[in-house]
Amino acid sequence: MRYWKFLILLIPIAALWGWKMNQQNEKQVQKGAMTKNEQIENKVEELLQKMTLEEKIGQMVQYSGTWDLTGPAPSGDVSKLKYDQLQKGLVGSMLNVTSVEDTRRAQELAIESSRLGIPLIIGYDVIHGYQTMFPIPLAESASWDADAMETSARVAATEAAAAGVHWTFAPMVDITRDARWGRVMETAGEDPYLGQIAAVARVKGFQGEELSEVNTIAACAKHFASYGFAEGGRDYNTVEISDYTLHNVVLPPFKAAADAGVATFMNGFEDMNGIPVTANAHLQRDILKGDWGFDGFVVSDWGSIKEIAYHGAAKDLEHAAELAANAGSDMDMEGYAYVKHLADLVEAGKVDMDKVDDAARRILRVKYHLGLFDDPYKYCDEEREKKMLGAAEHLEAARDVARKSIVLLKNENEVLPLAKDAGKIAVIGPFANDKDTPLGSWRAKAITGSAVSLLEGVEAAVGSQSQVSHAAGPKHSIGERNFVRELTINEDDLTGIDEAVALAKSSDVVILTLGEDCWQSGEGRSQTDIGLQGVQDELFEAIMAANKNVIVVLMNGRPLAIPHVYDQAPAVVEAWHLGSQAGHAIADVIFGDYEPIGRLPISVPRHLGQVPLYYSQKMTGRSAPESPGFVFWSHYIDEENGPQYPFGYGLTYTTFRYSDLLLNNNALSAEGKLTASVKVKNTGKRAGSEVVQLYIQDMWGSYTRPWKELKGFERVELAPGEEKTVEFEITTKDLEFYTARGQWEAEPGEFKVYIGSDATVQESATFTLR
Ligand code: NOJ
Repeated sequence: MRYWKFLILLIPIAALWGWKMNQQNEKQVQKGAMTKNEQIENKVEELLQKMTLEEKIGQMVQYSGTWDLTGPAPSGDVSKLKYDQLQKGLVGSMLNVTSVEDTRRAQELAIESSRLGIPLIIGYDVIHGYQTMFPIPLAESASWDADAMETSARVAATEAAAAGVHWTFAPMVDITRDARWGRVMETAGEDPYLGQIAAVARVKGFQGEELSEVNTIAACAKHFASYGFAEGGRDYNTVEISDYTLHNVVLPPFKAAADAGVATFMNGFEDMNGIPVTANAHLQRDILKGDWGFDGFVVSDWGSIKEIAYHGAAKDLEHAAELAANAGSDMDMEGYAYVKHLADLVEAGKVDMDKVDDAARRILRVKYHLGLFDDPYKYCDEEREKKMLGAAEHLEAARDVARKSIVLLKNENEVLPLAKDAGKIAVIGPFANDKDTPLGSWRAKAITGSAVSLLEGVEAAVGSQSQVSHAAGPKHSIGERNFVRELTINEDDLTGIDEAVALAKSSDVVILTLGEDCWQSGEGRSQTDIGLQGVQDELFEAIMAANKNVIVVLMNGRPLAIPHVYDQAPAVVEAWHLGSQAGHAIADVIFGDYEPIGRLPISVPRHLGQVPLYYSQKMTGRSAPESPGFVFWSHYIDEENGPQYPFGYGLTYTTFRYSDLLLNNNALSAEGKLTASVKVKNTGKRAGSEVVQLYIQDMWGSYTRPWKELKGFERVELAPGEEKTVEFEITTKDLEFYTARGQWEAEPGEFKVYIGSDATVQESATFTLR
C-alpha cells in the first residue's frame, strides 16, 4: 500500500521532470537556431586551416571585370593577371561583373580549377536601383519615410540579385553640408539623425531578413569616415575635422548601420586629419571592429590603398599595403597592393599572420552568410533575371517613392495643384522632355533614355482635358553622357528661346523645368557654382516676362542657390532626379492626385558663399547684434545668415497650425523620461500630412553645443479641420553626445525642446536634467 502511495507521489514529479526536459529541448532548439552562426564560424575556421598564406591573401583581393568574361581568355597584361589568379583561387571578389551569364562565368573560373573552390563575392554599385531607377538617395531622404527608403533598397536588391550580384556598395551614409560636393546626391543630407534612419532603412532593404535568401544582397556602409567633409566640397580632397564633429555628426549613421547588421564597410579616399582613412587603425580597428563589435569586413575604396602613398603617408606601394593591412582594411579594391606585397610583409614580420587570418575570416564569414558555399550559383537564374529586371511592380514602387520624394518649395496663391483642364499647358525647358536626366547619376544598369519624361507624365495625366505643348528652349548640351566625359555646357547659344517664349505667351500656364543634367552630380563632379548652368537664367527671365503663370520644376542632384527663381516664380517644385517614373510622379503631385509630402533633408542656401550651411550650427559668442546697426557679430554684411529654405521644410496643399507645446515635467532624472506634446491642426481645405519634428537644444556643455538637433519626427495625417496631439518621449539617451571627456553621455543642465514643421521653429519649452 505504502508502495503505491509512493508511486502516486511520483506522478507529479515525473510530470515536472517532463516539463523541465521539454523546456530544455526547447532551449536546445532555440540554441540550434542560434548556432547557425556558430556553425558558420566552425566552417570558416576549418577552411582557414586548409588555406595557404597566398590563398588567404587572395581572399583580400578584389578586381574589376575588365575583359569579356564569356569570350576567349584575355591577352592584355592586367586582364591576364586577373584571369590567371581567378583560376588559381587567388581572388576573393570581383566588381563590375553583372548579369547571370557573366557572374556565372566568373564564378566558374574561381571555383572549377582552384584548389579549394572558394566562391567569389561579386559586388556592384547598386545605389538607387539596378535597372528600375528610384530617386537619387538625397531625394529619397526628402520623403522622411523609412518604409519608402527600405522599399527602394529592397527592389534594387531583388533586381541586382536576379542579375547575379551578391553585394552592393551602398548605402552611402556620409553626412555632408556642402552642396558643391558632387556626391551630395548620394547622401541622406546634412543631419545625423535623419542619416541614421536612412542608413538603417537601406541596410534592411538590401539585406532583408536573411542574407542567405536569394533576393537579398550584402550591403556596405561607406565611406568610413568623413568623406562628406572634403575641403571646399572638392571630391577626394583633404578633410580636417574635429573630434566633436567626427563623433557627433559623422559616425552615428555608420554606427546605426553596424547595429542594423550591415555586412560590410568601405573606407574612402580621404586624408582625415593627416591620416588617409584607409590607413586609419583607430577608426577601423578600435572603433569599428573593437567598440562596435563589427564582424563583417572592410573593403577599401577603388585604389585607396595605393593612394596612401600618393597622399604622402607611405613611401611606396609596399609600405601602403603594410599600413592598410595593419589598420584593418580587409580587402584591396583594384589597388594591387596586397597581391604584390602582403605575403612578403608577413614573411618580414611587418604584418602579423593574425591580421591576415582576421581579414580572410571576415570575408569568408560574409560569403557563408550569403549561402555562397552552399550554392555558388544560387544567384544565377536566367528566368528570374528576365522576370525581375524592370518588373511592373518595381516600376509602380519607383513611382510611389518618387512622388514621396518631391518637395513643394513655393506655392503662391495656390497655383498648385493645377487643374487637369487648365487649358493650354506649355511644358518648357531643357529637361522637359529629357528621358535620361531623371535617371540620375550612379544609375547601375538603367537603360539610357528610359525614364518617363515630365512631358510624358503631364500628357498622360491630363489626357484630352487640356492641350499640352512642348518647347525645349535654348540648347542645353552637357557633353557626352558617360563616366569619362568633360563637362561642356552651352554658354551662349540662345537658339530656341524665341520658340519657347512664343509658346509661353500663347499658353494658360507654363511648367518650366530648370536644374542640372544628371552628370553634373555624382563622383568627381564637384562644382564651384551651385546655380543654374548654361543659359537657363536667360530662359527663366524670358519665360517669366512672357507669362506670369509659371510652375518651375527643378531637376537637380544638389541644393541650388537660385534666389531669383525662388523669388519670382509663383510655384517651385523640387523634383531632384527621381528615377524611371519621374514624369508620372511629378504629374501626380502637380495635378493633386498625390499630396506633396516631402521635406528638405538639407538646407537650401541663398548664396554659394554661405556653404557649408546647415541648421545645427554652433551658437558662437556673437550670434546677434547688441543693438541695431551693431556690426561686430557673426554675420555677412551682404546676405542673411539663414538659408533660403531650411532643413525640414516643405509645403503641402493644406496648412497646419501648432499650439500648446507642453512638457509633462520640467525636470528629468538620469533614469526617467519626459513627454513633450503639441497640438497640430489642419487649417486648410484639403487633407494632408505633416512631418512633426522634435528638436532639442542643450544650452551648454563640456563641448559647445549646436542651436538645435533633430531628435525625432512623426508623420500625422489630418483631414481638413482635424486636430491631433502628437507626443514624443524624451529620455537621457536623446541627450547624450560625445563629450569633451571622450565618451557618450548626457550632461546635467538645461535643455530646450522645440516641436514644429522645420528647423527654424522658435516655440520652445525648457527642462532640466538633474
Ligand atoms: C569609387 C567610389 O568612391 C565608391 O563609392 C564606389 O563604390 C567604388 N568606386 C566602386 O565603384
